[in-house]
Amino acid sequence: MFRPLLSLEKVSVMIFDKIPRIRFLEEPTPLQQLKRIESLTGHQSLWIKRDDNAPLGQGGNKVRSLEFWMGEAIAQSSDIILVAGKAVSNSCRLAAAAAAKLGIECLILHNDHEPPNLEGNLLLSHLFGASFEYIGPVDEEKRATAVRLAADRLRNQGRRPYVIGNEVTGSFGYVMGALELHQQANEKQIALKHVLMPGSMGTTEAGFLFGCALLGGPFIVHLVSVEYKVEELKERVAAIYHGIQERTELQPSAEYLKWTRFYEDYLGSGYDQPTPGSLKAIRTFGSREGLLLENTYTSKPAAALLDMASRGELPSDESACLLHTGGIPALFSQEMILK
Ligand SMILES: Cc1ncc(COP(=O)(O)O)c(C=O)c1O
Repeated sequence: MFRPLLSLEKVSVMIFDKIPRIRFLEEPTPLQQLKRIESLTGHQSLWIKRDDNAPLGQGGNKVRSLEFWMGEAIAQSSDIILVAGKAVSNSCRLAAAAAAKLGIECLILHNDHEPPNLEGNLLLSHLFGASFEYIGPVDEEKRATAVRLAADRLRNQGRRPYVIGNEVTGSFGYVMGALELHQQANEKQIALKHVLMPGSMGTTEAGFLFGCALLGGPFIVHLVSVEYKVEELKERVAAIYHGIQERTELQPSAEYLKWTRFYEDYLGSGYDQPTPGSLKAIRTFGSREGLLLENTYTSKPAAALLDMASRGELPSDESACLLHTGGIPALFSQEMILK
């Protein structure tokens, strides 16, 4: 069994002495074996880490980030949080749920036209009691300006807004996530060697890699891009990784690239665009394991797991785990899966 450099408890103390956190996860999310996918692929040890099961607002990776974003909001005595994203955004839904749980307001700026129907994440954000502004389908820069203006407007009204989204703050969730997975695998006596996850904005990925670095690099981490070309994904991850080093004043090895693999082979024609492999992965996980994946984030790393396990690129005696980052409510606005 791999001996970690640092324990979960030790890292918690090192990081959280300085950085505020509100706990939404009281215990580890489940780590489950994919027995029928093992028999399909001929692999001996395939696992899934069920962060889609995190116990807030229908779960997902942003629950871990929100422990730190909301920690900062509360530490700053904020009385309203601001969050921005598309109408299908998982982050907006989970921010609304976190605000509801803590009894503070949530204003969501959707960079979309107001959709005719309330469905998926948008429906849930309404149930969590958020308020909404639709700023039209603008780019990221214009969206950031709209958020700044909304925050100024609220401050002028005597409110204390907190803007959700700082990537370094959000990444702390997966520093802890990596340690949690490592400890959990050891407790179950799984010699976990490979971890696969979606590669997107870099927040989850950089935090996880930093957690792995604190442990001394126990895993090979496979980042399967669902959004950017590999070069851009690498740059995003590196920028956040260095931001974590600065904020925590911890300097684990910057050599994480030695045990990180980046892929764009499963991306197809881009973000949100299904591929034959991703559609097959959704159906395979559904029909063989009773597990839901959605199109945008989880189906492509799942396609990579199926493909690499079947071809022996993940050697059949080396345990591998897919990080399920959630997003299931978005499935209810993804009718393209059936086409
Ligand atoms: C379900 C899901 N998985 C993965 C991601 C990507 O996470 P990150 O932005 O940390 O790369 C997101 C981002 O919103 C998400 O909603």
